[in-house]
Amino acid sequence: MFSYARTIALRQPLIGARSFSAVLTSVPAGPPDAIIGLTDAYNSSTAPHKVNVGVGAYRDDSGKPYVLPVVKEAEARVVEKGLNKEYAGIAGIAGFVDRSLEFAYGKSSDALKSSRVKGVQTLSGTGGLRVWGEFWKKFGGDGILLPDPSWGNHTPIFKNSGLDVGTYRYFDYKNSKLNIDGMLEDLSKASPTCVLLHACAHNPTGCDPDMGQWKAVSDVIKEAGHYTFFDCAYQGFASGDAEKDAASIRMFVDEGHDMALVQSYSKNFGLYGERVGCLSVVGSDVENAANIVSQLKICIRPNYSNPPVHGARIVEEVLSDAKLEQEFRDQCKDMSERIILMRSLLRSTLEGLGSTKSWDHITSQIGMFCFSGLSAEQVDRLKVEFDIFCTRDGRISMAGVTQSNVEHLAASIHEVTK
Ligand code: LMR
Repeated sequence: MFSYARTIALRQPLIGARSFSAVLTSVPAGPPDAIIGLTDAYNSSTAPHKVNVGVGAYRDDSGKPYVLPVVKEAEARVVEKGLNKEYAGIAGIAGFVDRSLEFAYGKSSDALKSSRVKGVQTLSGTGGLRVWGEFWKKFGGDGILLPDPSWGNHTPIFKNSGLDVGTYRYFDYKNSKLNIDGMLEDLSKASPTCVLLHACAHNPTGCDPDMGQWKAVSDVIKEAGHYTFFDCAYQGFASGDAEKDAASIRMFVDEGHDMALVQSYSKNFGLYGERVGCLSVVGSDVENAANIVSQLKICIRPNYSNPPVHGARIVEEVLSDAKLEQEFRDQCKDMSERIILMRSLLRSTLEGLGSTKSWDHITSQIGMFCFSGLSAEQVDRLKVEFDIFCTRDGRISMAGVTQSNVEHLAASIHEVTK
């Protein structure tokens, strides 16, 4: 039975403190976020030549945030419909989830047709990762393996979900390329666990396995008894072709893995602030997939209850209309092509300045980022001496590079790497 006295007792402040205000006045300042914090630092800078190549958010060639024309059109259609603002339900908008699954797994996917793939709408990729972390802790195991390196937010997300976070070798830091042998060896030796894989455009390295290497990863995961969890935040951005970028996911399904997938629509649709994502599972059968989704909903409800509707309606509108879908594919390709162009320009400008270092990896890496090889000290110099903001692991968001800032960026990189 509810006891008021017991509730009060549990709320006593920490031993030694006289009141809650004393407890809270001693709360220390937390550090700024390693990625999002850079945008605040960039915004506070008054330097006219400042450059933000920190956060992975697409900019047009004038350095401005970009709303895809197809998103504007779909949004106008959604508004025109005059829909109400009722709750979407814990699993979100069913039509959006259906289109999302087709987008990732392929419209002709047998697994999809057999209904053993089911999903829920999430608060973009991050929200889906967190829901999965909680679910895995409850029903899977105590740990998760991430590539080394991985997106800076992965570790806190899974630690906050109560998981032990381990890593497998992924990147050959010395030669700036994928360390496929190290990856396969670590995965084969690890006890069965959940293995997170970046489906395409690995963040931060921009290095993905080729299809032969993906097959080897699939085989090792099967042999070692791991569970596969794909994080897909860049479908369409890696190659400019959303179908091609989903090849790893589709191959794992064809190879018979029961697995999970989180999708983000922040980058490819440019819906950053709308928080649109999808978390899905490929179950052993229809009932298994439905059971897992019922448990995902139980993780979601006490967390944020249900997801926002607006952005998901936009994605649903685009992916439900062949004309809009084609426009989306073209516009996503345009974004990825601008990034590829900036890669060549940054590399050639560095070489033109007489840099004797090898910058091949700027053009060989794919997706939104260049894992430059700059040290934390060099990154600090870029910030302090040249007002260039990038993460301390040396990751440069190529989406923030433009024809007007590339000279300053290249000259500054050249200066700190001499
Ligand atoms: C990034 O890696 O910069 C993006 O995914 C944005 C973020 O939330 O960190």
